[in-house]
Amino acid sequence: SEVKSDNHKLVLHRGFSFISGTHDPDEVDQINNLEIRDTDVFVITYPKSGTIWLQQILRLIETRGDIPDSANMMNSDCVPWIELVGKVKEFITAPSPRLRVTHLQYKFMPLALSQKKGKVIYVARNPKDVLVSYFYFHKLATMLETPENFSIFFEKFIRGDVFGGCWFEHIKSWYSHKDDMNILFITYEEMVQNLHLVVKKISSFLGKDLTDQQQANVVKYSTFRNMKQIPQANYQLISDQLLDHQQGTFMRKGTIGDWKNHFTVAQSEKFDQVFQKEMKDFPLSFIWDM
Ligand code: A3P
Repeated sequence: SEVKSDNHKLVLHRGFSFISGTHDPDEVDQINNLEIRDTDVFVITYPKSGTIWLQQILRLIETRGDIPDSANMMNSDCVPWIELVGKVKEFITAPSPRLRVTHLQYKFMPLALSQKKGKVIYVARNPKDVLVSYFYFHKLATMLETPENFSIFFEKFIRGDVFGGCWFEHIKSWYSHKDDMNILFITYEEMVQNLHLVVKKISSFLGKDLTDQQQANVVKYSTFRNMKQIPQANYQLISDQLLDHQQGTFMRKGTIGDWKNHFTVAQSEKFDQVFQKEMKDFPLSFIWDM
């Protein structure tokens, strides 16, 4: 279509695929040496693992469950990606608390995190559902190339030939450093199954003790159904130049196990084999369906 231009080139930098124009390798390289405050919070996700969801939850925990005063500000402005063009500079002078999300692998992140400065929340999602969600996102996002079909995208994802690189490398890079950091490890699936419990975990990790009512409000405004109604939270306000809204919505399905509607038996078996090989030394288990 018209909107889909040729601006979706992936560029490899330090072994990681970035999107040309969206990311600037020189700026990304400054992240390692950023000074970190104890109040800084980084949410780490491989794409399509619940980033937008955590943006909403962090923002709500900050306002103790009130729909924020700055109601017109989008979550992507309140809890921005550190790796986007211009965001490193903004981070340096931003007032506390600096709440950020990132899709970067561990090696790009502030070294100070490994001296237990700041806080890190890693959100993992079962990678079969990530793959399906990412497939649809490639239709929506103008900076990503629309895949010819699902099986071509399936292979690309397994090769790690997408922004964010290889899913396995991403999670392993963070997980193997988990003891060096103040880190909370959560999964998308536990959020789907018990959002209340996860919000509680997050707020206590951040040292915010919310009343039961405040806690209930955070949960209420971050359910799939309600986020779909909140333009500041669901990315419907993001410009057509970035998201081709005719192709779908960011808040697509929000379920566990949609991969079963897309994978063939052969694809599922192939994926399982790769998963077992890649993850054999990592004691991480996922919920694959409900
Ligand atoms: P689906 O495409 O499977 O629906 P990210 O923000 O990292 O790009 O992840 C987007 C995925 O998270 C989408 O998955 C989206 O629907 C899902 N998501 C976002 N908010 C959610 C919520 N409140 N509840 C459940 N899923 C949510």
